[in-house]
Amino acid sequence: MITVIQFSNNTFHIYNDDVSYIIKILKNNHLGQLYFGKKIRHRDDFDHLLVEKGTSLAPCVFKGDLDFSLEVLKQEYPSYGTGDYRDPAYQVVADNGSSITDLVYKSHIIKNGKDAITGLPSTYGNNVETLEITLQDDVIGLKVLLRYHVFSDIAAIVRSTAFINISTKPLRIERAMSASLDLYDSNFEMITLDGAWARERHISTRKITSGIQSVASSRGASSAMHNPFIALKRPQTTETAGEAYGFTLIYSGNFLAQVEVDAYDVTRVLMGINPFEFNWTLLAGEKFDTPEAVLVYSDSGLNKMSQNFHNLFRNNLMRGKYKQKSRPILINNWEATYFDFNEESILKIAATAKAAGIELFVLDDGWFGKRDNDSTSLGDWSVYLEKLPNGIKGLSEKINAMGLDFGLWFEPEMVNEISELYATHPDYAIATPNRKSSYGRNQYVLDFSRTEVVDCIFNKMCEIIDTANIAYIKWDMNRNITEAFSHSLTAACQKEFFHRYILGVYSLYDRLIARFPEILFESCASGGARFDAGMLYYAPQAWASDNTDAVERLHIQYGTSMLYPIVSMGSHVAAVPNHQVDRVTSLKMRADVAYFGTFGYELDLNKISAAELEQVKEQITFFKKYQDVIQLGDFYRLSQGNFYCWLVVSADKSTAILGYYKILASPNPSIKKINLVGLNSATEYSCNNKNYYGDELMNVGMILETEFTGLTQSDNFEGKYTSGTDKGDFTSQIYVFEAI
Ligand code: DGJ
Repeated sequence: MITVIQFSNNTFHIYNDDVSYIIKILKNNHLGQLYFGKKIRHRDDFDHLLVEKGTSLAPCVFKGDLDFSLEVLKQEYPSYGTGDYRDPAYQVVADNGSSITDLVYKSHIIKNGKDAITGLPSTYGNNVETLEITLQDDVIGLKVLLRYHVFSDIAAIVRSTAFINISTKPLRIERAMSASLDLYDSNFEMITLDGAWARERHISTRKITSGIQSVASSRGASSAMHNPFIALKRPQTTETAGEAYGFTLIYSGNFLAQVEVDAYDVTRVLMGINPFEFNWTLLAGEKFDTPEAVLVYSDSGLNKMSQNFHNLFRNNLMRGKYKQKSRPILINNWEATYFDFNEESILKIAATAKAAGIELFVLDDGWFGKRDNDSTSLGDWSVYLEKLPNGIKGLSEKINAMGLDFGLWFEPEMVNEISELYATHPDYAIATPNRKSSYGRNQYVLDFSRTEVVDCIFNKMCEIIDTANIAYIKWDMNRNITEAFSHSLTAACQKEFFHRYILGVYSLYDRLIARFPEILFESCASGGARFDAGMLYYAPQAWASDNTDAVERLHIQYGTSMLYPIVSMGSHVAAVPNHQVDRVTSLKMRADVAYFGTFGYELDLNKISAAELEQVKEQITFFKKYQDVIQLGDFYRLSQGNFYCWLVVSADKSTAILGYYKILASPNPSIKKINLVGLNSATEYSCNNKNYYGDELMNVGMILETEFTGLTQSDNFEGKYTSGTDKGDFTSQIYVFEAI
């Protein structure tokens, strides 16, 4: 694999074996965008790809040169106010109140490797090349760095932008997109991942049309409502064929992901910090870095787009001991006990879990302060001794003695009104002076834009973590920000709050990871309300949803896989009737769905039958055998709707595991068949005592178990009805294909 960035004839060509990205310095010294897509051969001159097409009424840059109009040109980092009326990539206001800028090319550097962005999550690696272009506006003294990174083995470009004030007066940034991309046409459908609590990241697809369409968050977190992701696909693109572009932001705060189709059918994609409720004062000499945006291209369907994201996140974003490693099988007590537990009941759950083969016990909410319900104690990270008389230390030692690792829940960013922390530092909670504060789950959000607040929580968490052998931390976050305001910011800087807040969250993660590098972090936000690439840099797995129903999880995990790897999706088997939707599904189906994630349990195994406990043991044995294939292999979505199918194939293509799920049974149905993908054509695979060549499985397809067809007439028909767990609604099958 090659990675090259070349510069000739005022043109940059960034490419690897899969993608090309071409930028041209235009005759006004702005940057024009020539191309992003499948790799094209390099040549010294791409001028013939430049489209200059004006109209008699469009503003033009040079007198009489009607064809050179910013209104029509495809641009790299466009501004507003000098001819381009589409939404711009940035806006910077000078001290005279003007936001007119003229960023022209000054210089560039091309280098191996890439730098981290201080304070922000960012991709890394040694298989990467960097182009940094410096643009400058000499009138207001603004320098802008456009950074491009290309990894040798991934069809993606990572971009970010830095603003530097080289004047002597303050500048105010009002919009600072990480990336802007102008595509030649608008024949696209836009995919977004939308939802709410307990139904996160459902796939929505719409045809894009003239004007602006976008998803965004202004909640202080990336949110369950819209994930920081959009894909643009051709109408005919499927999971396995056709063009698709994917865009995401390596960021966990307020974002904007916007598509604008202009009058000439150019599609402009903008990705960055949400400009709504944002600005940033840049004093003389200061620098502001945007988060990184990831731009992925696939010419072979959505699966390839997703795999590009998966590979980038697994190889060049996630860090630490668990990078590229399968994850411990855990049991979490939340749905088993909620707040109602003590040391004895916890140890009972743990003992049965250990006997079943589980590796890690996680103690969830309710172990601290005087927390018996959600109205008290957040912020007081000291042990609730009435429940746990031997402390976290004593409990974790007993759990470790059983042969289980121990994990603990925190919600670091929050405080309850009823808490010692709030009594001592009421000003630590976010509130606007002289205004009532809204509640969310009976709690307030701490002002993490203030260093002293982050320091305070860091010290409290360290005190607990230091006492015990903690292998895992679940970092929860259960409400969004309201009445945003910080006592540490001047009136003019209040709109820096949301970004500073998330920088505070990242700094706490950084400090904890530096101090406890062995701990596996799982991020969580009322389930999956902050499941984003920013979080994956710190916490390589995220609780995908509070909804543990097997059917709903099909929708959630299918959607989540659009960009997040299987190994990052927290997925557990829980009790039935399900606590979120009251649905009853079989233990088999619940596990068959949860296997395609981090896999764990979230119920009291003492409350299931002996036969079910045996089944749990078998599930864990199965999972341990195939965990590496599932969590580290290549993941493919095959079908969704009433029948879901997904597949993982090991890197060496010797093993493939197919999950097949039926939501509702239908009477006397047709035979179900699915074409596998990603196998070796010439390899013979065995599955359920039959042998198939890869090309048969991929072209003829795999006949899936036929559905129950009701009462059957046969020679010895006795007119009896029999029911079975694999018949009827909510059934599933796992097929394992192993090379012979
Ligand atoms: C929300 C999380 O998503 C749940 O898993 C659980 O940890 C609760 N919070 C605890 O309050």
